[in-house]
Amino acid sequence: MARTALVTGGSRGIGAAISKALKAEGYNVAATYAGNDEAAAKFTEETGIATYKWNVADYDESKAGIEKVEAEVGPIDIVVANAGITRDAPFHKMTPEQWHQVIDTNLTGVFNTVHPVWPGMRERKFGRIIVISSINGQKGQFAQVNYAATKAGDLGIVKSLAQEGARAGITANAICPGYIATEMVMAVPEKVRDSIVAQIPAGRLGEPEEIARCVAFLASDDSQFINGSTISANGAQFFV
Ligand SMILES: NC(=O)c1ccc[n+]([C@@H]2O[C@H](COP(=O)([O-])OP(=O)(O)OC[C@H]3O[C@@H](n4cnc5c(N)ncnc54)[C@H](OP(=O)(O)O)[C@@H]3O)[C@@H](O)[C@H]2O)c1
Repeated sequence: MARTALVTGGSRGIGAAISKALKAEGYNVAATYAGNDEAAAKFTEETGIATYKWNVADYDESKAGIEKVEAEVGPIDIVVANAGITRDAPFHKMTPEQWHQVIDTNLTGVFNTVHPVWPGMRERKFGRIIVISSINGQKGQFAQVNYAATKAGDLGIVKSLAQEGARAGITANAICPGYIATEMVMAVPEKVRDSIVAQIPAGRLGEPEEIARCVAFLASDDSQFINGSTISANGAQFFV
């Protein structure tokens, strides 16, 4: 029987590429989103992938949403915690609200997504947790104290979950994308984009599909011994 994958923020950007790649690999896929109904409906229409709306920052909503997915699509074997936001500001201007919004979505959102599926994975002796972190969690970034804190936190989450899940057949890994050509990055002024590209030895932005292929590998049976690791996909912009 085909395994079931849940991709949070799976209706747009990198998440949409991940959802499509996993569907192409033969998984049953459910994609979640926060509020952009139009983009989600278009995505479902184009791909046939079911979309579900809930806020990953809310534990009860996440738990109820996951129960619905499990009832309608199947027990979740693969979780891709991809949903994320930025609320950038230099630290002296960063508000507590900007701090909390990003922590609640990007970091607590990972807890809220993984915690409800963990018992089922332990029982079935198989699971794949894949968290989409960021190059800026590895190196820090001007005006992203909040975002970098969450993305560095992701790495601590997967290293700890890897140790707890290994004997139950569960792996937990993180992917740290560099700058990827999503709507968000393409929307910045061309001059700024050029200055970003100038810092990437590959001389270009990454494609969402390049991250999706890393996810497809980590989701597969072939990756069983890769556990607690961080895969950097950044065109040689930064090495740990
Ligand atoms: N783009 C890059 O260059 C880059 C680089 C490194 C890491 N990343 C990471 O990769 C991930 C995806 O980034 P992206 O650029 O593809 O983002 P994006 O295009 O802005 O898409 C974000 C997705 O997450 C959903 N989302 C946001 N907040 C949510 C919440 N509270 N609850 C549920 N869903 C929520 C959005 O739903 P709606 O459609 O309803 O808004 C959307 O589906 C993020 O974790 C980001 O930090 C991105």
